[in-house]
Amino acid sequence: MLQQLGFSVIIYDNFSNSSLSVIDEIKKISGYAPDFVQGDILDFDLLKSTLMKYKINAVVHFAGLKSVKESIDNPSRYHRVNVEGSKNLFKAMEACKIFSIIFSSSATVYGDPVFLPITESHPLNPKNPYGDTKLEVERCLESLAAQNSKWRIVSLRYFNPIGAHESGLIYENGLTEQSNIMPLLLKVASGQKKFLEVYGDDYNTKDGTGIRDYIHIMDLADAHCSALEFLYDSNKPFLGFLSVNIGTGIGYSVLDLISEFYQATKIKIPYQVKSKRPGDIDVSFADSSLANTKFRWEARRDLQQMCASAWNAINSKNN
Ligand code: WQD
Repeated sequence: MLQQLGFSVIIYDNFSNSSLSVIDEIKKISGYAPDFVQGDILDFDLLKSTLMKYKINAVVHFAGLKSVKESIDNPSRYHRVNVEGSKNLFKAMEACKIFSIIFSSSATVYGDPVFLPITESHPLNPKNPYGDTKLEVERCLESLAAQNSKWRIVSLRYFNPIGAHESGLIYENGLTEQSNIMPLLLKVASGQKKFLEVYGDDYNTKDGTGIRDYIHIMDLADAHCSALEFLYDSNKPFLGFLSVNIGTGIGYSVLDLISEFYQATKIKIPYQVKSKRPGDIDVSFADSSLANTKFRWEARRDLQQMCASAWNAINSKNN
């Protein structure tokens, strides 16, 4: 998307949870294979030399571990990669006089909702080590902006990203064990799993199952482009730190998702109700009006399109 907007893109990734084949898929979509450097966010020297070599102007920082379940099993690894790694990146950016960054944060920083829809001023009270690391990085960015007025920082708090690029070429294809609902639902749809486990049907919701704000990955990608253009918008020079929710503002239950998936693909998803997953909350959905006010972004794709795009990617991969 950034290439299609005229940005030149360099990818820095240790490929611990992604594959090199994505570079070819990007070229098939945009016509340009981005340069990439295989490197770790903990490698200060390589980070700094990469930022210098490519004369980077702004960083979109996705590099981090993202499994809630894994973070509970291995909190120190999550702190090392997500927090120490991010601080390493910010140090390298300062050394290269680069002060524009979009940070991939998460709605997990909010913890149990005190009110709904969740606005950016909702209390910050993460309930798991993954959420703790996201909040710690946000706080680090906030203090950088307070110390040095050159920083221009937008932290995007993602709700529940699902779906795939419309071409089916780029999709959620993590190498590590998946615990999120959509990859597991797709395993049932493609016959790799017999049924979906529904974690609890006694939540305080309309049908007893957990409600979330699912957002199409392409709407999420669009939000990053809008945020980056906001940083570059000379008519509204922005300095400082801004956190912004990225969600649709609509909450769907697990059973809603199963039925929308059927509407989109005509594939029935058999399920079995199991006990609640520790740490899960009843309901979470966003007020993302700030994203609209600040950079005229809003979600444009609905849950059926999210389901159809996810299934299209898996289906074209398997056939
Ligand atoms: C969604 C709903 C489950 C699996 C986490 C992070 C968030 C983001 C997305 C990174 C819940 C239910 C799930 C299953 C189920 N990650 N469920 N059966 O926990 O809302 O959010 O992942 O950015 O930051 O906090 O996402 O997809 O795991 O669960 O019933 O096999 O589906 O209880 O209600 P979650 P999820």
